[in-house]
Amino acid sequence: MTALRAEGAYRRYVLHYYNRFAHWYDLGEFMRRRTRRRAFELSGWRPGERVLDLCTGTGGLALAFAARGASVVGVDIARGMLKRAVAKGSGASAAWLEMDATRLGFPDAAFDVSLLSLALHHMPEAVQVKVLSELRRVTRRRVVLIEPEVPVKPGWFRAWASVASAIDESEYMHEWVRQDLVGTCEKAGLRVDAVETSRFWIHRFLLCGTVRA
Ligand SMILES: C[S@@+](CC[C@H](N)C(=O)[O-])C[C@H]1O[C@@H](n2cnc3c(N)ncnc32)[C@H](O)[C@@H]1O
Repeated sequence: MTALRAEGAYRRYVLHYYNRFAHWYDLGEFMRRRTRRRAFELSGWRPGERVLDLCTGTGGLALAFAARGASVVGVDIARGMLKRAVAKGSGASAAWLEMDATRLGFPDAAFDVSLLSLALHHMPEAVQVKVLSELRRVTRRRVVLIEPEVPVKPGWFRAWASVASAIDESEYMHEWVRQDLVGTCEKAGLRVDAVETSRFWIHRFLLCGTVRA
């Protein structure tokens, strides 16, 4: 499949899946709550700093930041997910925008801190590079990435990816399990300053700085 066709297929799948199953998504929130808190600590957010939550979904991470005083913009391509975010976020200092993460309508360095949680592993790598390049462009200080951890040795990759594909809606688990995410960040011009694993090895955090040319 050409890169362009893969990108089209991925986008159609994301829209189809997330618009249809948005109302189920928060059932898994208990697995993500601690990770949201840790992401806030790792971000080093300071009062007054502007925050972007890219691919915000139903807004769980954006609202965790808003609850701690941040003004957040949550962006997603799937209207169904954003509708849930709006319903959950009434009264919070959060704004929600329907936008494609590969083409952000924000000026350079519009945000101090940007977040991208549990979205990259749904994308072909070429799309990931576009999304990360946009994150780098619109962020001034710190990018926090959160993705599934792969807590097994290479001999177990295939088995892990098969199990993960059955419980995660991503179509790309067999690629993801072998992907060098630090290398992908570097292709997009992000500097990876630290990597951390969550408790019980569920999630991986990457803390990135924006290397400006
Ligand atoms: C697994 S959900 C993660 C949601 C949220 N970040 C979280 O941590 O719970 C992935 C989200 O990425 C969004 N997404 C995928 N590709 C996107 C794109 N190109 N532009 C904007 N949003 C996208 C999907 O619509 C979906 O809401």
